[in-house]
Amino acid sequence: MHLHPRTTPRRRRRILVGAVSAALLCTSGATALPAAARSAAPAARPGEAPALPGDLAATPPMGFNNWNSTHCRPDFTEEMVKGIADLFLDKGLKDAGYQYVNLDDCWALPERDADGQLVPDPQRFPHGIKAVADYVHSKGLKFGIYTSAGTKTCSDIGFPGALGHEASDARQFAGWGVDYLKYDNCNNQGVDARQRYLTMRDALKATGRPIVYSICEWGENKPWEWAADVGHLWRTTGDISDNWSSMLDILKQNLPLAPHAGPGHWNDPDMLEVGNGGMTDTEYRSHFSLWSMMSAPLLIGSDLRTATAATYEILDNKDVIALDQDALGKQATVLESTDGRWTLVKELANGDRAVALFNETDTAQKITTSATAAGLPQADRYRLRDLWQHTDQHTTGAVAADVPPHGTVVYRISAEGKTPGAGRSGS
Ligand code: GLA
Repeated sequence: MHLHPRTTPRRRRRILVGAVSAALLCTSGATALPAAARSAAPAARPGEAPALPGDLAATPPMGFNNWNSTHCRPDFTEEMVKGIADLFLDKGLKDAGYQYVNLDDCWALPERDADGQLVPDPQRFPHGIKAVADYVHSKGLKFGIYTSAGTKTCSDIGFPGALGHEASDARQFAGWGVDYLKYDNCNNQGVDARQRYLTMRDALKATGRPIVYSICEWGENKPWEWAADVGHLWRTTGDISDNWSSMLDILKQNLPLAPHAGPGHWNDPDMLEVGNGGMTDTEYRSHFSLWSMMSAPLLIGSDLRTATAATYEILDNKDVIALDQDALGKQATVLESTDGRWTLVKELANGDRAVALFNETDTAQKITTSATAAGLPQADRYRLRDLWQHTDQHTTGAVAADVPPHGTVVYRISAEGKTPGAGRSGS
């Protein structure tokens, strides 16, 4: 069962509250960003360096992270990571928009070297991390890594965290060619979260390398209220597990946060479980639909080397991905939720609306709304594209579907024909 980290015994063990002075962790104020990127970034608070460039994550990041598939197990290796990069190309996932190949926890040895440098685990990564990053880059993809804003990472094995080592770890990552950092929250010594995440933000900026910065403090300090100019995305919840109730629980926590998401600063309801075996394909289609409606990062969390055709079909649904990656960057809002029948609406850059009819219940449900209720203008007719069936239908405004238990029907709706206002005057 999914539990919020604060209530998880393992998590309680991992978070040590100590007394490291926040004064040791003050931000540098330096910036290596070009002037154009600086001016495009959200305004900084007085006395602070400006934010990271938003254009690095103008749409939610897409890629892979090993955690949901391997956790710390020995099958998390260089061979696996390179295999995933290969499959991004061989299976067309790169063309679908997947770009980042990211390592999670357990890539390092438990101790730093005599110079305080992080040391890749030679069993998992016998050629080091730079060699893997180079391989990923050679495929035209980007490479990500993980550490914690604490003295140690979250694994019980206790790998080194970056607290107090931010500048040198950031330089090491940049030197390896890292394009994305997931920065976790374990063993944080009770130091103020915003301060810890700012320190690494500025350390990353000081390297001069553009690095997507993913804040992973599980929503504990309401990062949606302070992190828009700190990171490109922030986790909003505890860890996802590969089961229906966990997915649902996270969905319900992330939906109300819609006003806080936008280009360059996204809510992160955690990585995808699609293909890991704990849900049905119908449930995985709902998971993928709902994450896309919520403009979530789409980080594949299953081992693609053994994935089924159905898993690939879900992850490669370009019509659904287009919702996630829509340039307007608006997270879906809840139009209606009654007895487990949900209607979500996402405004899209070209004026279309995406409507997800989601059935949380264990029996088939008819879910209905209308084009105008979804925010479309009055029109003679509307085109409804079913993004899983890949079929079109036309209506005069009704939007409805018989949705199977735990299923989601997603329509992309366009106004067609004459609209009473602009349409007629233009003809
Ligand atoms: C935390 C994070 C997870 C994962 C693990 C690794 O629990 O929330 O996403 O990175 O740590 O130990």
